[in-house]
Amino acid sequence: MRTIVTLPGDGIGKIVLPEAIRVLDAVGFEANYVHGDIGWEFWKTEGNALPQRTIDLIAEHKIALFGAITSKPKDAAAKELAPELQGKGYVYFSPIVGLRQHFNLDISIRPTKSFKGNPLNFIRKGANDTIEEPMVDAVIFRQNTEGLYAGVEWTNPPAEVRAAFDTHPKMKAFKDVPNEDLAISSRIFTRNACHRIVKAAFEYADKFGYKSVTVCEKPNVLRETSGMMLKEAREMAKQFPHIELWETNIDAQMMWLTKNPENYGVIVAGNMFGDIISDGFAGLVGGLGFACSANIGDEVAVFEPTHGSAPKYAELDPSIVNPIAMILSACMMLDHIGESDKADKIRKAIAEVIEEGKVRAYDMLKLKGGPDVIGKGACTTQEMTDAIIEKLQ
Ligand code: NAI
Ligand code: MG
Repeated sequence: MRTIVTLPGDGIGKIVLPEAIRVLDAVGFEANYVHGDIGWEFWKTEGNALPQRTIDLIAEHKIALFGAITSKPKDAAAKELAPELQGKGYVYFSPIVGLRQHFNLDISIRPTKSFKGNPLNFIRKGANDTIEEPMVDAVIFRQNTEGLYAGVEWTNPPAEVRAAFDTHPKMKAFKDVPNEDLAISSRIFTRNACHRIVKAAFEYADKFGYKSVTVCEKPNVLRETSGMMLKEAREMAKQFPHIELWETNIDAQMMWLTKNPENYGVIVAGNMFGDIISDGFAGLVGGLGFACSANIGDEVAVFEPTHGSAPKYAELDPSIVNPIAMILSACMMLDHIGESDKADKIRKAIAEVIEEGKVRAYDMLKLKGGPDVIGKGACTTQEMTDAIIEKLQ
């Protein structure tokens, strides 16, 4: 039997992950679940939010379901360390970023698909004030490990860095800027990573029948990095003649997604732009309660909702947060391990619950979160899961 590492993490991660497992059980997916320690508690007590034993566990079993973690700025993090660990040079790093880097989870997949009847769906006024509700089905492929997130940056850069930059003719514009007033964040793309993300995007489009892949960058300005991604996409497109390659710029794309989001299928981008586009599209299909994601490398894959630990809601009893983003992330795991039939059943059950409209979490009712939402007709987290499980029977 397959073993899945569960990484509930902090806050509502600990609430939504067990709900996803209830659904996996109900659909007849058989697995051993082993728990992995991750998150704030382990930062505070061990000075490491991603203990080595958790890395070993994931390396052994390859597949993990992740809830969410709490992270805080450096100084706030240092203050919360256990007294015996204070002042010993521990530095906080985000464990999810750590996982992506350690296992080279360079392919991030973020599907954004509207469910019929979701009150949070994007709507648009048509001619003569008619209301249209186009069904969005866009899947964003985000390069997950490099670009502006690679962390190669300086304020007051060392002299040799400054000197290297000064060899570029365009640095003339900055020649009078004192070093301490200069901040540089580098955008590093590698051909291999560009190749891998566009390949993953085309293969996905091919497998799931999307008619287009849009490469969304800004090659007219970012000639080198965006240019490399575009070149790789054009090269890859030759191998998939039945799939159209569309080329958009990030700024225009953000406008078009508020106009005609239903036109897009698979979209591929570098790290920063992929982050932006995926949040933009997620907002059109229900936001954080619905946004699921996968982080995929050659060996290891980690599946997680896009939302964080929502500490405001972590202690509410009963819980009110929407478990759908986590459950959809579990479906992505099933797709990844060749159990798409079960994933489809779960997605169908979710679709039925949403379309029926009897059971709705507070976000779907557009309520401000709090203990009073239950009295206003919102379901609890568990009731949403129960409703989905009932449709599976
Ligand atoms: P958040 O995603 O935790 O929550 C923002 C707001 O979104 C919540 O207050 C709530 O209104 C709504 N929300 C989130 N999940 C929801 C759900 N399942 N159902 C219904 N509504 C939901 O982001 P926030 O408040 O900015 O960060 C809280 C903590 O989470 C921070 O420590 C942050 O660093 C961390 N974080 C972790 C992430 C991860 O684990 N991948 C991602 C984003 C933030
Ligand atoms: Mg984000």
